[in-house]
Amino acid sequence: MGRKPKAKKKPATKKKIIQKPAKGWSASGRKKTVQKKKTIRKPKAAKQEVKEEPKIKIRTPKLLRGFKDILPKEQKYWYYIINKAEALAWGYGFGRIDTPILESTDLFIRTIGKQTDIVEKEMFSFEDQGGDNVTLRPEGTASIARAYIEHGMLNLPQPVRLFYYGPMFRYERPQAGRYREHHQIGFEILGDASAVIDSQLIILAYNFCKELGLDINIQINSIGCLECRSEYKTELINYLRSKRNSLCENCKKRLNKNPLRVLDCKEESCIKVIEDAPQTVDWLCDDCKNHFVKVLEYLDEVEVPYMLNPRLVRGLDYYNRTVFEIWSNEGDNTARQSAFGGGGRYDMLISSLGGRETPSCGFSLGVERLILKLKEKEIEIEDPTKPQIFLAQLGEAAKRKALVLFEELRRNNIRVAESFAKDSLRQQLEFANKLGVKVTLILGQKEVMDGTILVRDMEGGIQEVVDFNKILEEIKKRLEL
Ligand code: HAM
Repeated sequence: MGRKPKAKKKPATKKKIIQKPAKGWSASGRKKTVQKKKTIRKPKAAKQEVKEEPKIKIRTPKLLRGFKDILPKEQKYWYYIINKAEALAWGYGFGRIDTPILESTDLFIRTIGKQTDIVEKEMFSFEDQGGDNVTLRPEGTASIARAYIEHGMLNLPQPVRLFYYGPMFRYERPQAGRYREHHQIGFEILGDASAVIDSQLIILAYNFCKELGLDINIQINSIGCLECRSEYKTELINYLRSKRNSLCENCKKRLNKNPLRVLDCKEESCIKVIEDAPQTVDWLCDDCKNHFVKVLEYLDEVEVPYMLNPRLVRGLDYYNRTVFEIWSNEGDNTARQSAFGGGGRYDMLISSLGGRETPSCGFSLGVERLILKLKEKEIEIEDPTKPQIFLAQLGEAAKRKALVLFEELRRNNIRVAESFAKDSLRQQLEFANKLGVKVTLILGQKEVMDGTILVRDMEGGIQEVVDFNKILEEIKKRLEL
């Protein structure tokens, strides 16, 4: 087989090769003197690329809107409120319960109600990896009812008193006192229909807020039972229909399905209509009326003040009979976000979830709103994490002895601050000053040799030499422990 001639095989390639001048030479055959410039430019281009690298912006993740971090300096408010709530809970015979933050979506729809703001537009709901519809709890009572049934609490001595604390999630428009994650402290009494239970819970709520140092009032109403409420609803629907044109679009829709929600509407036009609406208390059956009168009488007995509020219906569907809210006496009470808490009776909730009929009542308080008011009022709150003394050291031997002393003080429940990583005494004393401790202990080389320690009063600046073996006694005396 003869070979094909090269020229015929790749004519185009050959042409190119012929036309390309050799490196450093022009096409006309002259040596290029400008060639050097090209070689200078290349590194320049490379340099520019290196410079651009740091410009890549790393996006730092941010908090979600309506969510908050609770920093160490804020914690004293949380300790203060939760410790008080717990002490009251034990005092009134409540047992603590913790339920999961995530529950089946169905639980909240069936309890809070389909036509409520919470279920209609505020729930953080999603489908999990297994295809189940789940929701970050928007409130605690539904979970308590589920847990009561699930753990057969009806077999315990009734009523069952449960106390809880934890985060709740509602996709609301964030503003002062309204967040997408907030925390509630809740008290529920399950398994008793007596009016005294409602009163006891209101007394508890009142005492709790008073003990926190807040000036509050109790707003109270009765929305009756299923029977008397159905008569009231007919009356209310007739009235609202006559004012239909003044209602917001949402309330026009709610009018027939859930007219009580109209009473809870915050639209200006609806508020005007609501002012003249028929009142639930005028439609109570005898049993509901007697129940309500008794609740008020018990409150009078212990001199807990309250205000009758005929327009109070609460924003959740599970209530019957007594409903109440805890409002601040300071500031604007017309705004809903000034309510520190709310609650009421929910006699049908557990049976609606398939449990035995279990009349119940409860309330919860919003921790963020309580804290806002404590800060606004500049109420002095002791920080239980604040160190009581400072332990300074100078020199390696002193550092070692100080480490041992620190452990002993801590075991004796004395909150000690230190700066073992710093060697300068001046820096350590400056830090002690910033912490605002009463007393600083100073261990130096000399003290280690003598078996002593210096006790410095931070206010007066007076220093005393104390026998090292007697330091624990001395500190306890100074701190009045
Ligand atoms: P609630 O009125 O919806 O009732 O909420 C109770 C309290 O939680 C409110 O009074 C308020 O202080 C606080 N709160 C509610 N939403 C927010 C928010 N977005 N931001 C800040 N704070 C908020 C209930 O949740 C019922 N489970 C109460 C109850 C217990 N009823 C019977 N037992």
